[in-house]
Amino acid sequence: MHLYVALWVCGTALALLLGWQQRKCWRLIWQLNGWRGVAQQPILWFLLCINLHPNSILERVTQMRKYFQRPLAILVGTRVLVYIDDPAGMESILNAPECLDKTFMQEGFFAKRGLLHARGQKWKLRRKQLNPAFSHNIVASFFDVFNAVGNQMVEQFASQPHLHGRAVKFTDAEDMLSRAVLEVSCLTVMGTPTNFTQTDDAHIASSYKRLLEISAIRVVKPWLQIDLLHRLLAPELYAEAEKCNQLLVEFVAGIVQSKHRNWQLRTALSEGAGEDSTAWQRRIFIEQIFQLAANGELTLQEIEDEAQSMVLVSFETVSNSIMLALLCLATHKGDCQQRLRAEIASVFPGQGQGSTPDAPHVGLEQLQQLRYLDAFVSEALRLLATVPMNLRHVSRDFQLPGREAVVPQNSIIVLDTFNMQREEEWWGDNAKQFDPQRFLDQDDQPDQSPEGEDISGSSIPKTNGQQKQQKQQRRHSYSFLPFSKGLRSCIGV
Ligand code: HEM
Repeated sequence: MHLYVALWVCGTALALLLGWQQRKCWRLIWQLNGWRGVAQQPILWFLLCINLHPNSILERVTQMRKYFQRPLAILVGTRVLVYIDDPAGMESILNAPECLDKTFMQEGFFAKRGLLHARGQKWKLRRKQLNPAFSHNIVASFFDVFNAVGNQMVEQFASQPHLHGRAVKFTDAEDMLSRAVLEVSCLTVMGTPTNFTQTDDAHIASSYKRLLEISAIRVVKPWLQIDLLHRLLAPELYAEAEKCNQLLVEFVAGIVQSKHRNWQLRTALSEGAGEDSTAWQRRIFIEQIFQLAANGELTLQEIEDEAQSMVLVSFETVSNSIMLALLCLATHKGDCQQRLRAEIASVFPGQGQGSTPDAPHVGLEQLQQLRYLDAFVSEALRLLATVPMNLRHVSRDFQLPGREAVVPQNSIIVLDTFNMQREEEWWGDNAKQFDPQRFLDQDDQPDQSPEGEDISGSSIPKTNGQQKQQKQQRRHSYSFLPFSKGLRSCIGV
């Protein structure tokens, strides 16, 4: 009898303690969703998503979200997870100093010691230190690299018969393209020619890709964030991750250390001769931050970490974005392909006719004229976002702008860019269709999309300028976030 009483007292005490700990979470759920939020709490959402393969998560969330009132808050243990898929919500989170950090679910990420995963004050300082390395002039100075590798890639494609005709495999094209992008990343970040466009015998590109896949698996199975559990529960995955990790750490460390030795030597010699490094060297990412090591602001290890993180983010995002754009091009042959061909032919007259053997040089000036191409890429990134979801950790209680709701410290925020960018409410009735025209100015081309129609009911026809203004007014500036926005937006654009 005494035992039952003791158990009952302990159980009640535990339940009270848990309830007390969760009080702020319940208040938020109530403030956001009222009774409906409370009724939706059997953490159905969470249970349906956890443990899925990363490739299935987006599909599942897309199916489920329409049954829930949003923004949605659900309880996960003693924390609350807030799911946001509207532009105003995104704007408030992405600009809140309380939501700067990444979550514990991203702890198992590869290359997590660089800027991408830095927290709090360390992130602020690091971002300030690295920002100058991404100035417009520096990025523009790399056009020769983009052209050289691009031309090499075209030659490679031309010389591989299995990449021609109808039976081209997506994975074969992806492999070659990702190797070319990795070569550009290594050239721009570390100033090192790698020849990856031709061959990658050491499997560097595929190791980057595999480590990212494993990192994504660890996000959806958060218990694998704990090294011991990862080793015990998924030994093969663990061993594979370790092997890839070691290969890539050695690859980057070898280059950075040898470049650093050269830099020190050059600096010592040029100080004596009163010379400075060449323009080529000055624009390379690590060459720019070696000076920070010399001033004692960064250690060599930190430079290796930043180089690793930059190679990874630039390689993965750019190669995936190009593949997604090519996928859209392949599946929307008609009008899009014709318009792209016509635009390219008008900016590079005489090319592709066999009249000029040399490849054209693509510079900033030409890119600015390729407006349909720009709209085409934007539309591909809208429909198939390269970074479909972002996660944020809440470092202290904060109030959602324009609402009573207070998001408690330690909450997890999920920002669903993928679904927001395909939502009719923000993108009109044809939101799910591929239509680059929506990104072009009204005065440039007659708009066939529903967004061009007069929705005011007025019988006075609108001028192009008015239509454009109306369109921009209707589209929230945070409804298109391929590179994120706010405090922690992409440094590379
Ligand atoms: C099409 C190409 C790219 C896309 C779609 C893209 C997208 C993004 C997005 C969505 C974020 C925010 C991630 C988050 O909040 O969790 C981000 C951050 C970042 N990107 Fe990019 N990115 C691209 C290219 C690049 C390139 C070329 C570089 C570097 C050379 C780069 C470097 C970074 C870094 C360092 C961050 C972290 C910034 C910080 O936390 O302060 N990205 N990118």
